[in-house]
Amino acid sequence: MKSIVSAAFIFAIAHSASAVEYAQIKSIFSQKCYACHAVSKGKTKGDLALDTPEKLAEVIKPNGQIVPGDPAKSSLLTSCKLPDDDDDSMPPKGKNRLTPAEITALETWIKEGAFTGSGPAPMVAPTATAAPLPAAGSVQSWTSNDGKAIQATFMGLQGDGVLLKMAANNEVFLVPLARLSPESQAQAKAAK
Ligand code: HEC
Repeated sequence: MKSIVSAAFIFAIAHSASAVEYAQIKSIFSQKCYACHAVSKGKTKGDLALDTPEKLAEVIKPNGQIVPGDPAKSSLLTSCKLPDDDDDSMPPKGKNRLTPAEITALETWIKEGAFTGSGPAPMVAPTATAAPLPAAGSVQSWTSNDGKAIQATFMGLQGDGVLLKMAANNEVFLVPLARLSPESQAQAKAAK
């Protein structure tokens, strides 16, 4: 039970001050993408679906079309930003494109870790461009910006997030830096 509590706990930290909730993103996907990318509609164009947890897990991962914490590397976002007449733009053919506000919401949500709200936060592995792992990382105390504490090992920085390995279960989570207390943010930057 300990590991479940810990995963739920860090998830709570990651969400405590979230500016963009998944419900908002889901509504955008549902209105603008599900017509061609939903298992429930029997349409998975380009083998991409955005409506089931299994299919989302294929999309939201390091090297997926959505890279948690890294909007610039997220090709799904890029295709939504392309001009209407670009062949690779999504949705295609200039129809039902995302509004600037929807683009910003999607971008912010990805930056904050692209949490889908079902189950624990997506596990992420350090990418090749992430800071090198400390040779002998030790467990430290980290606090969220609302004062909760966890024990975890620093694994590196990725985008605007910090990769922390939970002492309780060895699971790695990407926690947006903005979720941490100023002291813990400084600790993360110093560890880098
Ligand atoms: C009218 C149908 C249609 C809609 C609506 C649509 N797409 Fe697509 N999408 C396609 C087709 C067809 C492909 C595969 C062929 C291609 O790449 O052009 C595709 C491919 C993609 C890919 C590339 C998949 C890969 O191979 O990596 C992404 C990412 C994508 N769509 C995202 C979106 C997003 C996000 C939305 C909503 C904002 C969306 N699409 C809405 C038809 C659609």
